[in-house]
Amino acid sequence: MNKSVSEYRKIINQAQWQTPEQFQFASEHVKQWLMEQGSLTHKLLQQCQNLTVDVVTNAQCQIADIAPSESELLEDTHCWLREVVLHGDSVPWLVGRTLMPVLGMEMGNYNLSHQGNTPLGETVFASQNTARDALELTQVTVDGMPLYARRSRIWVDQTPMLVTELFLPDAPIYIAESHEWS
Ligand code: PHB
Repeated sequence: MNKSVSEYRKIINQAQWQTPEQFQFASEHVKQWLMEQGSLTHKLLQQCQNLTVDVVTNAQCQIADIAPSESELLEDTHCWLREVVLHGDSVPWLVGRTLMPVLGMEMGNYNLSHQGNTPLGETVFASQNTARDALELTQVTVDGMPLYARRSRIWVDQTPMLVTELFLPDAPIYIAESHEWS
């Protein structure tokens, strides 16, 4: 990983997001990764022995840290921010950025600030009452390499959070022949 999370954050914030209908998928393989409706954590776990999470940010965020399109999707600007780097067998695969309205954390059953080093999908998708919507996709160019990112709103017990996932250059989405063991 040759950029810091704050540099990736800037790149994500400038991205032009598209709906799945607008987005040109380079292949069926890429489509399957970007359109995964269940837990991406689970899909990544199928590609490695150890999936580990480095928590880079776990803090209440400033309004300036939230893009207008993010606060629109969450209908709130008073949010908690979690930023992580996910490693598959010690190789950085993904930058994850999750925003959750603080009010929702206080009122609901799920508290993002307590997630720690457990991948989000392991707890969030363990809840019966989880739904995903507002899926959007993009491709950004980082040091000449096109990288994929997606974002979606995940509802846990009617409380929303917005999860943005940027696939780093060594992620399995770029390896066409990667096996999907299931
Ligand atoms: C996280 O733990 O914050 C996380 C994990 C996997 C993702 C996104 C976020 O795909």
